[in-house]
Amino acid sequence: MANFKIQNKADYEQSFQESVNQPEAFWNSIADNYTWRKKWDKTLEWNFTDPDVKWFINGKLNITENCLDRHLEQRGNKIALIWEPNDPKEMSIRYTYRELHSHVCRMANVLKKLGVTKGDRVCIYLPMIPELAFAVLACARLGAVHSVVFAGFSVNALADRIQDSGCKLVITSDGLNRGAKQIPVKSVVDEAIASCPLVEKVLVVNRLNWPIQMKDGRDIWYHEALSHEGDSCQATEMDSEDQLFILYTSGSTGKPKGVVHTCGGYMVYVGYTFQNVFQYNESDIYWCTADIGWITGHSYILYGPLLQGATTLMFEGVPTFPDPGRFWQVIDKHSVNSFYTAPTAIRSLMASGVDHVLAYSLHSLKVLGSVGEPINEEAWHWYHTHVGKGRCPLVDTWWQTETGGIMISALAGISDLKPAHAGLPLPGIQTLLVDNEGNEITGEGVEGYLCIKFPWPSMIRTTYGDHERCRQTYFSNYKNLYFTGDGARREEGGIYRIIGRVDDVINVSGHRFGTAEIENAINQNKKVVESAVVGFPHDIKGQGIYAYVILGEGASNDNHTRDEIVESVVEYIGRIAKPDKIQFVSGLPKTRSGKIMRRILRKIAEGDTSSLGDTSTLLDPLIVDEIANGRL
Ligand code: WT7
Repeated sequence: MANFKIQNKADYEQSFQESVNQPEAFWNSIADNYTWRKKWDKTLEWNFTDPDVKWFINGKLNITENCLDRHLEQRGNKIALIWEPNDPKEMSIRYTYRELHSHVCRMANVLKKLGVTKGDRVCIYLPMIPELAFAVLACARLGAVHSVVFAGFSVNALADRIQDSGCKLVITSDGLNRGAKQIPVKSVVDEAIASCPLVEKVLVVNRLNWPIQMKDGRDIWYHEALSHEGDSCQATEMDSEDQLFILYTSGSTGKPKGVVHTCGGYMVYVGYTFQNVFQYNESDIYWCTADIGWITGHSYILYGPLLQGATTLMFEGVPTFPDPGRFWQVIDKHSVNSFYTAPTAIRSLMASGVDHVLAYSLHSLKVLGSVGEPINEEAWHWYHTHVGKGRCPLVDTWWQTETGGIMISALAGISDLKPAHAGLPLPGIQTLLVDNEGNEITGEGVEGYLCIKFPWPSMIRTTYGDHERCRQTYFSNYKNLYFTGDGARREEGGIYRIIGRVDDVINVSGHRFGTAEIENAINQNKKVVESAVVGFPHDIKGQGIYAYVILGEGASNDNHTRDEIVESVVEYIGRIAKPDKIQFVSGLPKTRSGKIMRRILRKIAEGDTSSLGDTSTLLDPLIVDEIANGRL
């Protein structure tokens, strides 16, 4: 029987071995830690060809009973959620498990009245306010499939996502706070759903007291709807393999795809990984700074911590408001014990100087975490030394939207730490490296494409509405393997160092964008004839966005045009995908078959123009010199 809680290196070894030798027995004993209305008949059926993966077959459950109801007896008065507002002068709010349970039930009752039932898709486009947590859990309570869209996405991006998954309800707010700014939200929804005929109702949370347009018969104020609702709501019985949520993420081609996660496996895996990676203790206060609009927020602000009866903190604001000491002020204010953030945040705070950190005690901290992109050694040491005072283990957690939960990471206080290395796979995760042909690369001190050869409970089941795309993207490169899209090294002791994406995906501040997606946005601008986008190393963001643009006749290649192009990207995707550099060129390096040689463009963007390799196969080799000379 595997121990649910790994407490030392020997436990890790034993669990890992068991998970490889007897995966079903291993996962059965992990899954037994949760409340099932009916136990599963069979643990696993799978093939990576179709792909078709099912976990805990015929098991019945509702994840919110595991996140909320089952804690009421022992932890009813324990704080489940601490909400810290954008403005430190506003009061924070603390919800006990009992209070959170009743808020979720009341929201679920509102949704039910609006006609939401099991299997319906609901789009949640909300800032980081408590109602976002209530909305996610209320959907799960009713068996409605939530699709949370990060509130920084633009009209087009939102409309695409609403349409792709056929949402009939959108939950939103009048506006949002972001540092010193207030930004409209509801008006974005209004514009988006002009092209989404399936949307019947819009539920609006009042955050800013703004006098917004409410459309009769369609738009409903949440606080008004709420006043009629009681605080109990029966949870809908779900099958293990019923869909829990859709979350859109970018790939190397086409529009963002809806990654689908299902109820049983996702629950088991995120609870298990939260408990073990952070080594959560009953009285700990845990804070993950991600936005719930991304997978990190789904798995490690809401579901993982609540499954384990933890106290989870949710922060509305930004790291630099009112000053770059805000994170540290919040840690002291709430006596945070575990702190999970992104390398980009660390690097930007590093740049503001260490005094902001030294102004706070941070003595409550016990565990630090990092997620979203490789953390460079300098940032690792700064974080470990100045935030963790050299006494807190720092776990570098590698995973993806598609994996649902953390896959490769140290376990806090148990594993050895090596800066810039994610570490060993968790028990239950069978990683390997392969070469171009898909042959396994064994041994240590080796590099290859990172793949996974055995299913794990929270893995992607499909891409919404397009299963073939799921097969193509993750399961077709290498036979019988899940391909992550990342390159990695395996070092001494079997620990992994993640190098980064090997496909046309750029990781900007821990957010994924496809180069094609950004090019498409740039090309919306009428002055643009063609564009090519690549990533380049950026001190704060990890990767920046470098765009090469061919303008049409008569367009002037000046900063005004650059601003217009940036505006197109903001309009089409959102501020987070703004290009950092735009270079106007008269042509692009293409092969005779018309394929853009991104390798060359990447080198130039990186500033490495000395070794551009063989350019003789290009249609117009001279263009390379022109581009290299005009480099920004
Ligand atoms: C991609 C997944 C996992 C939640 C946030 C991002 C990169 C993620 C690490 C890490 C090196 C990392 C990978 C991965 N990545 N964590 N600790 N070290 N790289 O989720 O948007 O699905 O992006 O982020 O390239 O494939 P995502």
